[in-house]
Amino acid sequence: MKRRSMIILPTACVAMVLGIAAIRPTPGAQEKTCPCPQPTVEPAAQPQMMPEVITLGKDAKLGQVTFNHVKHNSGAYNITPGQAIACVSCHHTAQPSAEAAKHPPLATAWPADRTTMLTKELWDKDQKTAGVASCGDCHARDGMTPKLIPAIPQIKHESTTALITLNNQQAFHRSCTGCHAEVKKANVASKAPTAMQCTVCHKKT
Ligand code: HEC
Ligand code: HEC
Ligand code: HEC
Ligand code: HEC
Repeated sequence: MKRRSMIILPTACVAMVLGIAAIRPTPGAQEKTCPCPQPTVEPAAQPQMMPEVITLGKDAKLGQVTFNHVKHNSGAYNITPGQAIACVSCHHTAQPSAEAAKHPPLATAWPADRTTMLTKELWDKDQKTAGVASCGDCHARDGMTPKLIPAIPQIKHESTTALITLNNQQAFHRSCTGCHAEVKKANVASKAPTAMQCTVCHKKT
């Protein structure tokens, strides 16, 4: 899965820019006790909607974030011209567990025994089993218990032994601005907002 790297590759640089405040090296902090918590909840029985525009960060002090989901997944926005961004570039748990295991640090599939890869085709064919979970159901805000897994996920920092707690802010920033940094490298004129362009994403209503 070539495009998975969109989440993984840019994290080092994004972490440098964004993570600093949140990555507090905590000497003596407990190492993650593996095996990592495996979500056990079954996919919702109700058909889901494919949202077109999603308002994220309604609780963010800087303001909410309007995310055009369809432009991001239909090919209108792309990294390789003519090729839509893969669903699993963002919905990283919506792939077979055997596939997920091949791309550390990402290892988690949901549901844990998942055998299907989320694609536009799968979505169009069978929305009920496509199994898309909200990011926030695992990447909860600080102090909240996630709905699908026992605790907010943590990964090891790229270059130190510190653990990064992937709360909503970390997970979204790493995913969104990680990709945008790559996009900007390939095309400086791109309007994809990078890590420090806070208020291009966050807008007060
Ligand atoms: C590419 C778009 C984007 C950029 C650029 C961006 N953010 Fe965010 N930010 C988000 C999204 C999306 C969320 C997650 C909101 C959610 O939980 O639904 C978020 C969440 C947050 C949160 C957590 C809000 C909460 O309490 O739940 C804070 C704080 C924050 N951002 C601050 C910043 C700051 C400061 C900057 C600039 C240094 C910045 N953001 C740049 C998109 C962005
Ligand atoms: C660029 C990132 C990105 C891509 C690519 C992407 N999505 Fe999403 N998708 C999101 C985000 C962010 C949300 C909002 C999740 C949340 O609210 O936590 C979302 C939400 C959804 C939801 C609603 C989930 C719910 O909470 O009910 C569905 C269904 C969905 N996406 C399907 C797809 C499908 C199918 C594809 C591929 C054709 C796709 N997405 C591609 C980022 C993406
Ligand atoms: C079922 C739970 C679950 C859902 C849903 C989920 N994640 Fe994650 N995410 C995890 C776990 C657990 C990790 C830690 C690595 C692992 O075990 O796969 C992680 C890791 C990450 C990372 C870190 C990758 C890195 O190398 O820096 C990012 C970024 C991320 N998730 C973003 C998202 C976004 C964006 C969404 C929604 C489109 C999402 N996640 C949905 C559980 C989830
Ligand atoms: C896999 C790559 C990728 C990911 C992940 C991604 N984007 Fe983008 N984004 C793009 C590209 C490509 C563009 C279009 C750039 C252009 O055409 O100039 C873009 C443009 C944007 C823009 C400017 C245009 C507009 O629609 O207002 C915003 C805002 C934006 N993205 C927000 C987000 C947020 C919020 C997230 C995370 C939830 C996110 N993006 C995740 C690739 C990505």
